[in-house]
Amino acid sequence: MPRERLSVVVTRRLPEAVETRLSELFDVRLRDTDDPMTRPELVDAVKTADILVPTLNDQIDAGLLGQAGEQLRLIANYGAGVDHIDVATARQRGILVSNTPGVLTDDTADMTMALILAVTRRIPEGLAMMQKGGWQGWSPNAMLGGRVGGRRLGILGMGRIGQAVARRARAFGMQVHYHNRRRLRPEIEDEHEATWWESLDQMLARMDVVSVNCPSTPSTFHLLNARRLKLMKPSAVVVNTSRGEVIDENALTRMIRAGEIAGAGLDVYEDGVNVNPRLRELSNVVLLPHMGSATVEGRIEMGEKVIINIKTFEDGHRPPDQVVP
Ligand code: DGY
Repeated sequence: MPRERLSVVVTRRLPEAVETRLSELFDVRLRDTDDPMTRPELVDAVKTADILVPTLNDQIDAGLLGQAGEQLRLIANYGAGVDHIDVATARQRGILVSNTPGVLTDDTADMTMALILAVTRRIPEGLAMMQKGGWQGWSPNAMLGGRVGGRRLGILGMGRIGQAVARRARAFGMQVHYHNRRRLRPEIEDEHEATWWESLDQMLARMDVVSVNCPSTPSTFHLLNARRLKLMKPSAVVVNTSRGEVIDENALTRMIRAGEIAGAGLDVYEDGVNVNPRLRELSNVVLLPHMGSATVEGRIEMGEKVIINIKTFEDGHRPPDQVVP
């Protein structure tokens, strides 16, 4: 007897190629507008779907999971970060959670380097000058930034993405330092010529650039708080392509305005799309709209990972990218 197909609900429009493949393989309900689901729509989804495919736009919290029907068995997240999902509660309710690690590593690391270069070499300021038609020609003293090569880069979170940043930074001649709770194996440190700092405070005090590459968890919330930001050199720059909650955004804004930190490159914000308006006024701050993983290739590969996770689950096995709390 053919096995009953599990029903899949996708909460957000995905790339067309991914939606087509999902429709070919599964009994799938796709979204027809490109906006996140409302809470009532999400409640309906968890009451009816066997498998939910959310994105980081959806709060899959204990309240929502409490309303889920018995049939919900897998949350196959379209994305690597799972801070919007209460994985522990899902587990208690017997719902598996999977994500899409690996395929957005290089794209996010590229964007981290782009932000480092944009801030230190003042690229948006140059672009704005050109767009306004304000360029008066080359001058020995115009638009001087800092040389990236030789700078000390402190990577906060030396996981997959942190290491991909390290690889790129070495190619630019930067000195790589990192803080992780656990030290990497010696051969990995050697590969990146990376120096481990057990004390985050001590590392921060010595870096020229600090890159946030750790996930958002209760223990990384405001890891870069006002006290720690004050430890940094006034010439230092902060970049964040991970999650906004890791930095106290208001403290960072105050310190950049006061000249206590030289600049920042941010792709993510503490309160989602509600970016601190004062950040937008600062010429030494480069703001991007959470586009670290935004490549055509990456977004399709994320979809392929979702499909493999669902398929494996349908076949009666644990999804390869299962997330454990
Ligand atoms: C993720 O997958 O968590 C990324 O932040 C999306 O860009």
